Amino acid sequence: MNNQTIFPSLIHGGDYNPDQWLDRPDILEEDIRMMKKAKINCVSLAIFAWSTLEPEEGKFNLQWLHDVVDRLYENGIYVIMATPSGARPRWLAQKYPEVLRVNARRERMLFGERHNHCYTSPAYREKVRIIDRKLAEEFASHPAVILWHISNEFGGDCHCPLCQEAFRSWLKDRYGSIDKLNHAWWTAFWSHTYNDFSQIESPSPLGDSSLHGLSLDWMRFVTAQTADFIRVEKQALKDGGALQPVTTNLMRDFTGLDYSVISKEIDIVSWDNYPFWHTGSDIEIAYETALQHDLMRSYRQKPFLMMESSPSSMNWPPLSRLRRPGTVPLTSMQAIAHGSDSVQYFQIRQSRGSSEKFHGAVIDHYGGEDTRVFSEICRTGEDLASLSVLTGSRVDAKAAVITDMESRWAMEAAAGPRNMGLHYYEAVQKSYRALREAGLNVDVIDSSAPLDSYKIVAAPMLYMYKEGVPDRLRSFVRQGGILIQTYWSGIVDESDLCFEGATPHDLTDVLGLRFEEIDALPDGVTNRFVRIKDAGICSDTVSDNSGENSCENAEGGLALPESCACEYLCELVKPEGAKVLMVYGDDFYAGHPALTVNRFGEGAAYYVAADAEQAFYTCLYREIARKAGLSPLLEDLPDNTCAASRTDGQYEYVFAGHYAPDCVQIKVPQGAEILCGNKDGILDGYSYIILRRISS
Ligand code: GLA
Ligand code: ZN
Repeated sequence: MNNQTIFPSLIHGGDYNPDQWLDRPDILEEDIRMMKKAKINCVSLAIFAWSTLEPEEGKFNLQWLHDVVDRLYENGIYVIMATPSGARPRWLAQKYPEVLRVNARRERMLFGERHNHCYTSPAYREKVRIIDRKLAEEFASHPAVILWHISNEFGGDCHCPLCQEAFRSWLKDRYGSIDKLNHAWWTAFWSHTYNDFSQIESPSPLGDSSLHGLSLDWMRFVTAQTADFIRVEKQALKDGGALQPVTTNLMRDFTGLDYSVISKEIDIVSWDNYPFWHTGSDIEIAYETALQHDLMRSYRQKPFLMMESSPSSMNWPPLSRLRRPGTVPLTSMQAIAHGSDSVQYFQIRQSRGSSEKFHGAVIDHYGGEDTRVFSEICRTGEDLASLSVLTGSRVDAKAAVITDMESRWAMEAAAGPRNMGLHYYEAVQKSYRALREAGLNVDVIDSSAPLDSYKIVAAPMLYMYKEGVPDRLRSFVRQGGILIQTYWSGIVDESDLCFEGATPHDLTDVLGLRFEEIDALPDGVTNRFVRIKDAGICSDTVSDNSGENSCENAEGGLALPESCACEYLCELVKPEGAKVLMVYGDDFYAGHPALTVNRFGEGAAYYVAADAEQAFYTCLYREIARKAGLSPLLEDLPDNTCAASRTDGQYEYVFAGHYAPDCVQIKVPQGAEILCGNKDGILDGYSYIILRRISS
């Protein structure tokens, strides 16, 4: 077993709630039989079981859980044990109303729902500590328990008086003096200067929602307070003797917390994966899901767990489509391909009542094994069991995309050029997808991550340059890296204050240009990028004035598209040494640079001035990867097919997944053997293939 793994083989399992069936011992036995049949080797228990574990304050009943764990273990099924803090019991809310969250309008919520407690409340923390410790005392040494699952999908904020106080003291720690805070938040504007920390209130529609520094620090505080709450839970488990690693399940593209901070609090990252398959282009959804997997892996640069996914349909989106045949094994294997050591579902047995009774499950209300869904799960189980060699293997990526939550918060909160939508996440997706389409493994990192191991780094819309970011990007390029920086980057510092002087701040020499203006286009209005030779323009920053040939040279040997569309945001930049590769085709800025490149040190920095269409990025990154000497994982992939790989040092395992109903064939490279899938490289609709070759 690789020393990074928590389990000797790939985990196949899911959330299991026997607490809903305590009066039905036959159900547990049937569940175990079905789980074994599907090669399910691990379940997550007790996630929302607080009211069953502690039906009245101080009266604990853990025996049922112990019995379940014993019975599972006797049958070779391991356990990820959850703390139940994701949903509090009624008695707790009744006796300690301070645990109920207060919203930004300062209204205290009633008891109900879940994931809605105050993380500051001493009463809540104390009650969580007690139940967590009890659980740890009971299960710390149980051989079935391999991991602790802290709470469930942390998120949201609370504006109660306790949280206001905690926010003020967090600010005091951060700034030391009120003068420093006033400067950082630029409070002289609209006469907002504070005399004292006690005057500060969290953002509210009734108060301040446009003091950008306040809004940004509030998000930072919410993250810090959630991290602190996680530490409380971790400590309680430790106090109860638990030695197993801990996780908490993160969510897809969740912007309520900075996961780059939260992920440092846990031993292993896990996340809940619910794409809306078959609601549009499945290959697009596949790339977006791949991005999320890669983001989760990159937080700790080690294997993660896919803690939840749906084995059939969901019940909470506007439309819940059935997974097309093959999709469950395919998308499960996608998680593995990107570095997950598990495939887990929500939920093992479908509940009979309440809000998730129609959510997909391994065992549905019918309860039999002769269902389409169950047979897909069994197939997935078979495949996972045959791939245990992959457990703990790594992903080797030479390309990275930077996505930074603090920068995103600041950019999206700012009243700026395009309040009707900046399309930041889409911009990140475009660069990511283009790098994947170039056949590369990709890390998705935040702006503080080291860059030394990469050859190509994309930094789309990196609005905020935190301390050290320009230096890191500069030395990356100087040492031979290729940076792709886009519009709306390097505008503000860590306090959300605009940099004085030329931007992108401190990087204008590396990029060979500076920002001048930014135009926002209405939805549906486009401009164009055109190659300069097609535009009949040869910028003198580009050429040696020798005409057509210099334009060819300016393209630096890149086969760029003749023309492509761009939308939303178009920046006007002033080249100061950069070569212009493409220019705008329309409007008063036709002929102004749209794509540039600047040699710096041993490397090069590209600048994309506007939100260009996917086809542009796909072409640009393919060309950049080729020039950087990075070959694709697999050559000439058919349409709607994408690849990813993991390595254990000795072998590289290359996955190709096909996200459409048609049948295609991949070229199996020489020297590669097919580990899983059709021997001739044929991929049926919604299927995958896994190849093995010697690691290079
Ligand atoms: C989330 C939660 C689960 C369940 C699923 C349903 O991920 O963690 O408890 O509600 O969604 O899709
Ligand atoms: Zn609170």
